[in-house]
Amino acid sequence: MDMKNQLGIDNCQRCDLSDNRQNIVIGEGNQNSDVMVIGEAPGKKEDELGQPFVGKAGSILDSILEEADLRREEIYITNVVKCKPPSNRDPTKDEMESCEEYLSNQVNKIDPSILVSLGKVSASWMTGKEVVLKEKHGEITQSRQEFNSKKLFITYHPAACLYSNGIKEKIVNDFKGLRTFLDMIL
Ligand code: URA
Repeated sequence: MDMKNQLGIDNCQRCDLSDNRQNIVIGEGNQNSDVMVIGEAPGKKEDELGQPFVGKAGSILDSILEEADLRREEIYITNVVKCKPPSNRDPTKDEMESCEEYLSNQVNKIDPSILVSLGKVSASWMTGKEVVLKEKHGEITQSRQEFNSKKLFITYHPAACLYSNGIKEKIVNDFKGLRTFLDMIL
């Protein structure tokens, strides 16, 4: 059974993001993966295609993964919210709450060894605490109970590379650390 049916997400109307979406972006990748990467929300391209990280941020993510010797086919990728917020804004607390059951069910089904938060919105939502990326990137912490208190690896959002110099090197370095951690535990 595919993830869409398993989550019962078809035609979800739990929040107003359903009004303007083209597609619900559930997630994709290896459903037996040890690594589940969690972004923020779909952007324009993702909304058009119904797949996560297929726009500019996705290309950057692919190149970061390659440099860290991780392959996209090996991991599962999703977002905190499954529908595109208008004008590229951050999802609101209400929207993230409306979508929380889907994400927590995905964590249950995939049951990865580690979750990876891309960016402040995802890291703060997954931990339930305001995360300062400058201090916490590259570290492993614990997710909230709603996400099974799993290990959570924190790094910057790949889109940050579009606005700040030197961020890509930091994310690559973080993912290399994750690679080393995975080699140790798997
Ligand atoms: N940014 C995200 O956080 N998720 C996507 O799927 C695309 C861009």
